[in-house]
Amino acid sequence: MNNRVTELFNIKYPIIQAGMIWNSGWRLAAASSNSGILGLIGAGSMYPDVLREHIQKCKAATDKPFGVNVPMLYPNIQEIMDIIVEEEVKIVFTSAGNPKTWTKWLQDKGITVVHVVSSVKFALKAQEAGVDAVVAEGFEAGGHNGRDETTTLTLIPMVKEQLQIPLIAAGGIATGKAMLACMVLGADGVQVGSRFVASEESSAHQAFKQVVVDAKEGDTQLTLKELAPVRLIKNKFFIEIQELYKTSPTPEQLIKLLGRARAKRGMFEGDLENGELEIGQISGLIHDVKPVAEIVEDIIAEFENMKKWVSTI
Ligand SMILES: Cc1cc2nc3c(=O)[nH]c(=O)nc-3n(C[C@H](O)[C@H](O)[C@H](O)COP(=O)(O)O)c2cc1C
Repeated sequence: MNNRVTELFNIKYPIIQAGMIWNSGWRLAAASSNSGILGLIGAGSMYPDVLREHIQKCKAATDKPFGVNVPMLYPNIQEIMDIIVEEEVKIVFTSAGNPKTWTKWLQDKGITVVHVVSSVKFALKAQEAGVDAVVAEGFEAGGHNGRDETTTLTLIPMVKEQLQIPLIAAGGIATGKAMLACMVLGADGVQVGSRFVASEESSAHQAFKQVVVDAKEGDTQLTLKELAPVRLIKNKFFIEIQELYKTSPTPEQLIKLLGRARAKRGMFEGDLENGELEIGQISGLIHDVKPVAEIVEDIIAEFENMKKWVSTI
């Protein structure tokens, strides 16, 4: 398969394994890259020295291209970017911030830069900032999300109508059928998150992986829009947030309830009641934990079958 995304990253299939805090360390990224897609280390949950260690381990585990996802909302961002340059990482996916801040700085050092957005407006801003490609992420996606609630099915064709640079679709994609649908809508490739949480190589706690496998339609919801909108499993912590909402809380009260390290507690340490469990709506279609190589094989086999099937309708 050859297109603008496979060429941009020098990969076999136009699929990106999403950067995901507490889930995407070097094991997941290396396994993804070794399976012919682009693996990303999620820097969002890593102190700078931990990130350096993950990059070094990933380099030792694969000779294929891989990248680092950097949510730009952390105070030590300069240190993170310096490590990425020192360790000669060639691909960076930025998210949660202004693409103007780092794009040129990284590109001047020979790094390919992709920015994640959830609206047409921000896709065009990213293009204007000079990024090499855009990930457009729909409302159904796991993790932090946009406020506008635009779904992947509507976002991708609307971004495509105006964007010239390569477009990567994200949100609700876990199968070859969904990948094909997104490419028909105008995407050059897809970014897959939730499906890879339930992989053998993800660093999610076993108990969280089981929650993903057990999740059904309607088990997740977007919340905390006043702080940073995030899609969560409706567990005890989620219900506490909903209860607090009934009292018309101030942002400070929400921040207090959120406290510290909730995401780590839930997804990495397996505290299913008090932790923050980030996952996408597509978890309702994920029924098993598998090795990354099998997940990729399944997606590609179904994608090819569906291409043939489409010509018969
Ligand atoms: C557990 C989890 C953690 C995530 N963490 C990040 C992150 O650190 N940075 C980021 O840009 N996106 C993050 N995301 C969003 C993913 O990168 C990706 O765009 C999204 O999962 C795609 O939708 P899907 O989950 O329906 O496949 C996260 C998603 C999940 C499920």
